[in-house]
Amino acid sequence: MTDFGDQAILTIDLDALVANWRRLGGMAPNSECGAVVKADAYGLGAAKVGPALFAAGCRRFFVAHSTEALALRAAVPDGTIHILHGPAAGAEADLAAANLCPVLSTPGQIAAWAAEARRLGRKLPAAIHIDTGMNRLGLSEAEANILAQDPSALDGLEIGFVMTHLACSDEPDHPLNQTQRERFATWRQRFPDLKGSLANSAGIFLGAGFHHDILRPGIALYGSNPLDPAAGPRREASRMAEVVHLQGRILQVRSVDRGDTVGYGAGYIVEKPSRIATVAVGYADGFTRALSGRGSAVIKGRQGHVRVPIAGRVSMDLITLDVSALDAADCVPGTPVSLLGGGIDIDEQAASAGTIGYELLTQLGRRYRRVYTGASLRGAA
Ligand SMILES: Cc1ncc(COP(=O)(O)O)c(C=O)c1O
Repeated sequence: MTDFGDQAILTIDLDALVANWRRLGGMAPNSECGAVVKADAYGLGAAKVGPALFAAGCRRFFVAHSTEALALRAAVPDGTIHILHGPAAGAEADLAAANLCPVLSTPGQIAAWAAEARRLGRKLPAAIHIDTGMNRLGLSEAEANILAQDPSALDGLEIGFVMTHLACSDEPDHPLNQTQRERFATWRQRFPDLKGSLANSAGIFLGAGFHHDILRPGIALYGSNPLDPAAGPRREASRMAEVVHLQGRILQVRSVDRGDTVGYGAGYIVEKPSRIATVAVGYADGFTRALSGRGSAVIKGRQGHVRVPIAGRVSMDLITLDVSALDAADCVPGTPVSLLGGGIDIDEQAASAGTIGYELLTQLGRRYRRVYTGASLRGAA
């Protein structure tokens, strides 16, 4: 896309991403650290993120959908790619041909993948997901019991590991964490030859009892704090390196008088003479409308970084900021405005919108000019 200088810029620091991956892996030195790159690497671009992590030593990647796995295969030809949703019905032959490794969550998926192995006359790789309390994906306790008693359904499959997923890892004191940890330990005893995988990003911070053999971090790789604000002061220790910096640009600035209103619905009423800057980013770019009148932005002025409020509603392609606190010369058309990163914490912005960092990242829009930085880009080139 031609850049006329008016597009918002989404800078993705691949070195920070790799540093986050190394840090998480370093917290569990006896485990292998994989990377969850579903939803296009949480919106950041799996085609860049995957190779950068592979170059740093990551050998295991997790996506949700079969189509994501097939696309990622081109980007990481030599990595192990797991499909968390299991093999899409009818896609088995394509997945086997691309050497992909589905995570099997139902007896039906096990049967279909084993049938494909028989058809091909060779072993196919897979992992097994057992539900331990989330009640979302995975074999039920009854189904897993049957499999443990009679594993013949797995004939023809090379099962690499058994996994489960934590429902409340972002709240370290939630009792379900310990319940799931204990249930998973029991399942591992029932499948003694298989490796185990339990921890997502926040799970890694729960300590060694949660680490097992294979780590599956996602959100922390991308710079969001994996712990919930309810974790209190412990959250400081799980602050990750900033990966994403989204900068919109000012299109125009206007003076408004007391009593004037700003934006759709005339919901924002100006209380004193103010200056309003209009920035070319809106909800069509994934900058959620829930930030209307609630979120903030940062502009670098001569008095340093100044935080300014979003005034009025977020519209499709535009937001309006009250920039009265800045010197007029510091907010002219073309001035960059940080909307995520660069002084605006992703999780804080998400909280203002009543959502989580995951949602802001995975909704990052397609109109941004994406700039990947860092020496790790060589691995991603
Ligand atoms: C099964 C599974 N494992 C790991 C992850 C990564 O979780 P997080 O992004 O919280 O690290 C996810 C993400 O939702 C998941 O669904």
